[in-house]
Amino acid sequence: MVKIGNLELGEFPLLLAPMEDVSDPPFRAVCKENGADLMYTEFISSEGLIRDAAKSIQKLDIFEYERPVGIQIFGNEIQSMREAAAIVEAARPDILDINYGCPVNKVACKGAGAGILLDIDKMVAMTAEIVKAVNIPVTVKTRLGWSQDTIRIVEVAERLQDVGIQAISIHARTRQQMYKGEADWSYLNLVKANPRLHIPVFGNGDIDSPEKAKEYRDKYNVDGMMIGRASIGYPWIFNEIKHYFATGEKLAAPDLEQRIRVTKKHLDFSVQWKGEKQGILEMRRHYTNYFRGMPNFKPFRAEMVTAETYQHVCAVLDQVAEVYADYEF
Ligand SMILES: Cc1cc2nc3c(=O)[nH]c(=O)nc-3n(C[C@H](O)[C@H](O)[C@H](O)COP(=O)(O)O)c2cc1C
Repeated sequence: MVKIGNLELGEFPLLLAPMEDVSDPPFRAVCKENGADLMYTEFISSEGLIRDAAKSIQKLDIFEYERPVGIQIFGNEIQSMREAAAIVEAARPDILDINYGCPVNKVACKGAGAGILLDIDKMVAMTAEIVKAVNIPVTVKTRLGWSQDTIRIVEVAERLQDVGIQAISIHARTRQQMYKGEADWSYLNLVKANPRLHIPVFGNGDIDSPEKAKEYRDKYNVDGMMIGRASIGYPWIFNEIKHYFATGEKLAAPDLEQRIRVTKKHLDFSVQWKGEKQGILEMRRHYTNYFRGMPNFKPFRAEMVTAETYQHVCAVLDQVAEVYADYEF
């Protein structure tokens, strides 16, 4: 049984990766329904939280049904991160996660996200302060290192454990790689081979099928996996992997009815959470993904992403159900 603090996460938990503008409550709702064992919010700026910026504060929204859920923060100032941690704790998540992996310039080049991998002493000191500031379990998400020749992930994991983190998720790329090349999970084996390390280690990077999940589970000795991009428009991936682990057989791909039902649930939640106008706007980026591969879908997509009322989007979805009734995925 994998545990983070008192949270019991099953034998081999599948985690939904934190993803900016993606892993919001509506998306988490459909991932939860489809087998995600632990989910995280997108990263939230510590400075934004402290300033009480509405956009950052809204990202703290979590709902009872989705527990266990973690809230992720990022920043480069120890004091701000400590204050932000206290604000996060007041929102009552099950876990506080620290982002030490974001590679984009505006974050990493200021020393936040993956930028802190250039100063591991600061990374350890910041983590220690955050652990002291809250009573909930603290976890970390990071990358292998800043660049190929500065990878010190075995040492980093152990030192972060020693200052109190209770699990680590490792995206098996360096900051330099951004999202290019293949994730190199062999480093996860090295992290797990450290006899002093006892916290759960979750592997992340490029898991996009049940077969790959099984291959990597068997090969790299991790305690669970975190899945990001493959879940976008395809939340079924979590249950598909679980089913494959349990039976060695692949579940059939979701049919049109399931796709429409999940799209609708996602839409309904967006509208309830953000109001009709904003909810419809934020949902627009998801349609292509839910209906990927369907021939001649463009006109339907075009209508969905220009529709301005909830009724209109639903009418297009009804039309899709009718036109593609016999389509097989
Ligand atoms: C659109 C997008 C947004 C992301 N936002 C975050 C984030 O807010 N916090 C974070 O730790 N990682 C973020 N990531 C990185 C993912 O959590 C994950 O580490 C990465 O996508 C590799 O996993 P995958 O191959 O399963 O997608 C983001 C990735 C994508 C594609």
